[in-house]
Amino acid sequence: MTLAVRDETLADVAAIRAVNEAAFAGAQEADLVDALRRDGDLLLSLVADDGGVIGHVAFSRMQIEGDPAVALAPVAVLPAQQRRGIGTALIEDGLRRLKQSGETLVFVLGAPAYYGRFGFAAASAARFETPYPGPYFQSLALSPRAPSSGAVRYARAFSALS
Ligand SMILES: CC(C)(COP(=O)(O)OP(=O)(O)OC[C@H]1O[C@@H](n2cnc3c(N)ncnc32)[C@H](O)[C@@H]1OP(=O)(O)O)[C@@H](O)C(=O)NCCC(=O)NCCS
Repeated sequence: MTLAVRDETLADVAAIRAVNEAAFAGAQEADLVDALRRDGDLLLSLVADDGGVIGHVAFSRMQIEGDPAVALAPVAVLPAQQRRGIGTALIEDGLRRLKQSGETLVFVLGAPAYYGRFGFAAASAARFETPYPGPYFQSLALSPRAPSSGAVRYARAFSALS
């Protein structure tokens, strides 16, 4: 079976939970995805499907002082399927779709060694005020029209995270 990256459907909701719980060894990220969906803040939710859901990435709406931006989180691949390029396929497909639909700016919180390969950088993110400052807070502009400073506000579901 070949790998497809596609939009989530209602039928994927339980499998998406299972992938997040397995990848993160806990329920926090699975709960985050469900809360983002419930709140209507899930802008783009993609699954990697090879006959079953083996990976997932969520992109949610966030705000920079009235301007829209996008948060990438979480991304998860079943442990037995990691290091085969599935995370890369999910993130690259998501960024391409976001750019096509006119989004200008994406933020992520995560390992710079991983997200740097997609063009995310802490230096560009440092111009924004965030509850999560530091090297893990990175941004990627998809357009020259992207805001370059301001205070970021994540979707409500993120405030439940510890
Ligand atoms: C992070 C994750 C989504 C990557 O998915 P994947 O399908 O394994 O990734 P890819 O195969 O596309 O890329 C693998 C590469 O990323 C690197 N990588 C994975 N996680 C990394 C991390 N936290 N820091 C640095 N590099 C990392 C691997 O070393 C590998 O590098 P290599 O190809 O040079 O050996 C997956 O490992 C996962 O689900 N991890 C647990 C959940 C998690 O930590 N999610 C990210 C935080 S939101």
